[in-house]
Amino acid sequence: MGRLLPLLLLLLWPAWAAAAAARSPPHLVFVLADDLGWNDVSFHGSSLRTPHLDALAAGGVQLDNYYTQPLCTPSRSQLLTGRYQIHTGLQHEIIWPCQPSCVPLDEKLLPQLLKEAGYATHMVGKWHLGMYRKECLPTRRGFDTYFGYLLGSEDYYSHEHCVLIEALNVTRCALDFRDGEEVAREYNNMYSTNIFAKRAAALIANHPPEKPLFLYLALQSVHEPLQVPEEYLKPYDFIQDKHRHLYAGMVSLMDEAVGNVTAALKRHGLWNNTVFIFSTDNGGQTLAGGNNWPLRGRKWSLWEGGVRGVGFVASPLLKQKGVKNRELIHISDWLPTLVKLAGGRTNGTKPLDGFDVWKTISEGSPSPRVELLHNIDPDFVDSSPCKLGSRILSSESVASAFC
Ligand SMILES: *[C@@H]1O[C@H](CO)[C@@H](O)[C@H](O)[C@H]1NC(C)=O
Ligand SMILES: *[C@@H]1O[C@H](CO)[C@@H](O)[C@H](O)[C@H]1NC(C)=O
Ligand SMILES: *[C@@H]1O[C@H](CO)[C@@H](O)[C@H](O)[C@H]1NC(C)=O
Ligand SMILES: *[C@@H]1O[C@H](CO)[C@@H](O)[C@H](O)[C@H]1NC(C)=O
Repeated sequence: MGRLLPLLLLLLWPAWAAAAAARSPPHLVFVLADDLGWNDVSFHGSSLRTPHLDALAAGGVQLDNYYTQPLCTPSRSQLLTGRYQIHTGLQHEIIWPCQPSCVPLDEKLLPQLLKEAGYATHMVGKWHLGMYRKECLPTRRGFDTYFGYLLGSEDYYSHEHCVLIEALNVTRCALDFRDGEEVAREYNNMYSTNIFAKRAAALIANHPPEKPLFLYLALQSVHEPLQVPEEYLKPYDFIQDKHRHLYAGMVSLMDEAVGNVTAALKRHGLWNNTVFIFSTDNGGQTLAGGNNWPLRGRKWSLWEGGVRGVGFVASPLLKQKGVKNRELIHISDWLPTLVKLAGGRTNGTKPLDGFDVWKTISEGSPSPRVELLHNIDPDFVDSSPCKLGSRILSSESVASAFC
């Protein structure tokens, strides 16, 4: 028997290993683009070139009836809480830089739930869910590691966020870049999307494939300011509009970054057990190069152009691939969907507004969602939490620079 047992184990090994592999929860990689419009990806017919996104979307499930919130803090809060912003006090605009606000600390966030389910949890990129006290920071809300910026719009190279203080007629700038909870000063003059993709690839390279991974990569691309290295503009010299020209280059760079991240997942043996999600946070900002054609409106509006989002899921684990899904799906649905995929539990959360839509995405079954609530905002009149002067905050072009 002493000699038979190892032999028996050896014979049983392949079946056992396969069963274990099938049972192990998938790696979850969520890439959130900022302000990417409906008509800004070539798989929607755009003249902007997005070969990596196109290939992923073509081999996965395109979400054709997918809704986000019209603005970034609301969208991001719903992604991580699975709850409408009417429950979290975030129904009014975004969290402004000097506003003492964050996603309420008694909300249980997606990374916390995934951590409880045994995942390693990493976040790279834009937080924008509040930072006025340490308890609000990503590293205190379920992420093992964090690398990125905590506010909204900033310079892609200097990572400074600037605010015009009208009462004093001065512009004040401050560095908003962090590695963990420490200020990161050594990235000056490096384009954020490149360093975020590099960090994501490094996290993937150092990740033990047998442990489930949750990577939330919230890119700065393609939010204004319109900045991109010269070389990305050349393919778009046919575009006359100056904003659109720069924006096109930014989209190409973002596409390349996504290609680098998926290449890393493949190179390090994670891809075959990965569910990869790509989503925008809201519609494109047409005042800054974005385009939502044929949808009307833009970011910060409730027209389709503001809320109908670019999105797809790519994964070897999908039952149906290469399809366009027309079922109603909302950004608040990711939390229950991903926690379920992870084999985790959502009973530690407050009542969820999101639905588990995995069967809808993977098999094409009808969505459990029949309606969605965009918002109820009793404080619609513009009020300035930062006391910057109401003219600034009510001017759409300046206000849109923040998110
Ligand atoms: C604000 O300062 C600039 C110079 O920095 C000056 O040209 C401008 O007139 C000032 N505006 C007001 C309203 O004082
Ligand atoms: C993608 O990876 C290549 C090779 O490492 C690198 O040269 C390029 O800058 C990366 N692109 C982006 C957008 O990060
Ligand atoms: C996934 O890929 C790794 C490395 O290439 C391999 O060892 C493993 O068996 C694969 N798992 C499945 C379920 O195909
Ligand atoms: C969730 O439910 C399970 C089983 O019903 C229970 O064991 C677990 O303690 C619950 N978790 C929370 C946070 O309530």
